[in-house]
Amino acid sequence: MRAAVINQYGDKDQLKVVDIVVPTIGDDEVLVENVAASINPIDYKARQGLLQQMFQWQFPVVLGWDIAGTIIAVGDNVDNFHVGEAVFARPDTDPTGKNGAYAEYTVVKADKLARKPDNISFEEAAAVPLAGLTALQMLRQLKVTAGQKVLIQAGAGGVGIYAIQLAKKLGAYVATTASEANREFVVGLGADQVIDYRQANIVDVLSDYDAVFDMVGDVDNGIAILKPGGHFVTISTMLTESQKQTDGKTVETGWLDTNGQDLEQLANAFAEGTLDIVVDSVYPLTTTGIRAAHERSETHHARGKIVVQIKNAVQEEK
Ligand SMILES: NC(=O)c1ccc[n+]([C@@H]2O[C@H](COP(=O)([O-])OP(=O)(O)OC[C@H]3O[C@@H](n4cnc5c(N)ncnc54)[C@H](OP(=O)(O)O)[C@@H]3O)[C@@H](O)[C@H]2O)c1
Repeated sequence: MRAAVINQYGDKDQLKVVDIVVPTIGDDEVLVENVAASINPIDYKARQGLLQQMFQWQFPVVLGWDIAGTIIAVGDNVDNFHVGEAVFARPDTDPTGKNGAYAEYTVVKADKLARKPDNISFEEAAAVPLAGLTALQMLRQLKVTAGQKVLIQAGAGGVGIYAIQLAKKLGAYVATTASEANREFVVGLGADQVIDYRQANIVDVLSDYDAVFDMVGDVDNGIAILKPGGHFVTISTMLTESQKQTDGKTVETGWLDTNGQDLEQLANAFAEGTLDIVVDSVYPLTTTGIRAAHERSETHHARGKIVVQIKNAVQEEK
């Protein structure tokens, strides 16, 4: 199969589309023929070698953590998914580094899958799992409820677009940070208040917040705007011991827990039309395409999600 691999850690030019063997499934897994994948910042961080302490991968490594496609084989113990079904998922991280999303086929444990709603395309579906699950689970960790005031940092990004919409669905008042160029965009997603982070510091504008969802590493300011009893979670940096032990406030890091049930909850919201997907750009799974997709991600200014088109790109190349 065609897959984008890296043979060593480094810059985007390490990415190359080559032929590798199709992965094989275990009893509780399915094989998905991918139509699309998407890019997350963890992809370029992994490519740079920043995750080496977490994952001991062997080269060549296939990156990517979001897939959407069609099931073409199911393991003996899988009875709730069938060949031919359209699905999407954030697969488990493969300890060997071979089973990434930038490939024609990816193995996925059945409990990580959800059916793709008919009203969204495969490209849109691929833009959901990692970012959408993170947004859903971090708002849960923050215990956001109706009427609360929530700050969502980086509202125009991959996680932010879902976090704003999901927080509004919960009935919260949502403030978000974005550049001036994205003000109307995040208001369109439901944000009640937008802070242009280049012009103002959140501590000068916000106070008495119930929850802060941080994805830019603005920890001390985020903690400072919380009311007593408020909750802070960051997904982009480590916390110091003193930050974690802030008196009267809950200060935590968050990490996505991939699972099909939460993904199904998001799928239902797409099917009902109560949650929107925003695709920043689409790149083909070619060497040039995947490098350009990483370059776009590394600008830190994608608006929504960067998608990789796999099936058509590979067929055209053949
Ligand atoms: N721990 C986990 O489980 C987990 C899961 C998902 C993501 N993450 C991490 O969370 C972070 C965000 O992920 P993502 O996918 O949302 O990233 P992303 O899509 O690359 O975010 C891009 C967005 O960030 C905004 N932005 C850039 N600098 C900003 C700043 N200083 N203040 C406010 N907004 C800013 C940009 O808006 P403008 O163009 O308007 O500046 C852009 O829309 C990354 O570090 C990622 O690795 C962690």
